[in-house]
Amino acid sequence: MATERTLSIIKPDATRRNLTGNINAVFEEAGLKIVAQKRVQLTPAQAGAFYAVHKERPFYKDLVDFMISGPVVLQVLEGENAVAKNRDVMGATDPKKAEAHTIRARFAESIEANSVHGSDSAENAANEIRFFFAETEILP
Ligand code: CMP
Repeated sequence: MATERTLSIIKPDATRRNLTGNINAVFEEAGLKIVAQKRVQLTPAQAGAFYAVHKERPFYKDLVDFMISGPVVLQVLEGENAVAKNRDVMGATDPKKAEAHTIRARFAESIEANSVHGSDSAENAANEIRFFFAETEILP
């Protein structure tokens, strides 16, 4: 299996509750290496553009408002099969449907305040990483 990279975002509900270290421990125990990380306040324009694929969905405005409601931690995770592995450790989008050991089952508050984002394909991962990081900021 190939070494891959994926974009992870620790969302405002989790940074607000001081859960960055707990969530990072899950990634590291799963064999995902945090090769880039920065804590930032997203602008409305950044959050809106990042989630542009959901522009027509009824939850879009609330999602953008939530993502700018506090700091987020942007990360690049690297490892074998990193995109799928990260989706496994995150669990289902809706924490009520997520398996018990997953980040969202353990920490998420709701389908919107669901603690983490992870890229859903290798192609989207490359685009999402490029959206937030320069290659010089990624240090394997
Ligand atoms: P994320 O993986 O960041 O991608 C899109 C986000 O939209 C998703 O996680 C959820 O936090 C958010 N969202 C809010 N409401 C819904 C919904 N009804 N269905 C799917 N995603 C939703």
